[in-house]
Amino acid sequence: MEIFFEGISLIPWAISDASELALIANNKKIADNVRDAFPFPYSLKNAQDWLDLILVENDPPRFFAITIDKQVVGSIGIVSKTDIYRKNVEIGFFLSENFWGKGIATKAIKAATSYAFREFDIGRIYAESFSDNIGSRRALEKAGFTLEATLKRNIIKNGIIKDSCIYSVLREDYKY
Ligand SMILES: CC(C)(COP(=O)(O)OP(=O)(O)OC[C@H]1O[C@@H](n2cnc3c(N)ncnc32)[C@H](O)[C@@H]1OP(=O)(O)O)[C@@H](O)C(=O)NCCC(=O)NCCS
Repeated sequence: MEIFFEGISLIPWAISDASELALIANNKKIADNVRDAFPFPYSLKNAQDWLDLILVENDPPRFFAITIDKQVVGSIGIVSKTDIYRKNVEIGFFLSENFWGKGIATKAIKAATSYAFREFDIGRIYAESFSDNIGSRRALEKAGFTLEATLKRNIIKNGIIKDSCIYSVLREDYKY
């Protein structure tokens, strides 16, 4: 399957994509803006291990390469929540630095959000950005998410305590 949206496609990750994933993910500027589970340097082994992990249960697909003309330019994933949170999914994403600032993340978030509301029995999709990650926050806003809460001193990244911002969209409010 492939999700086409305004010139980009989301294609479910496959184990054969490990080298392309490692190539785009091996960037400190990306690692600095996501959870510590995302390493820097990001090796081929890191890519293979992550793909092994997510591909255990990826039907219906939840983790996608963001592609343009078949070239992998980023990654976007939908993480299903469990227990009392099971009507939510969390969305997470990054883009190869060569492709920043072109509106691609915004399109990918819109495409993944539409897909998630179509495919899963959920009412809310959310994302968590570090408060100083203006690019991510802006992309989420442009994709129809609204700032729901700022969680004060919620995270520690590279030894620095920061706020994080929860952005969400509800099924009934989503227009794409
Ligand atoms: C965050 C990220 C996905 C954004 O991808 P992108 O394709 O460049 O995003 P878009 O082009 O769709 O939108 C970014 C918006 O933020 C704006 N922006 C980016 N950095 C900015 C800054 N420092 N100050 C003000 N605006 C900024 C851009 O101008 C653009 O807004 P505009 O279209 O109104 O001009 C990408 O930078 C990335 O992968 N970062 C590292 C990983 C990461 O942060 N992932 C998200 C974790 S929650």
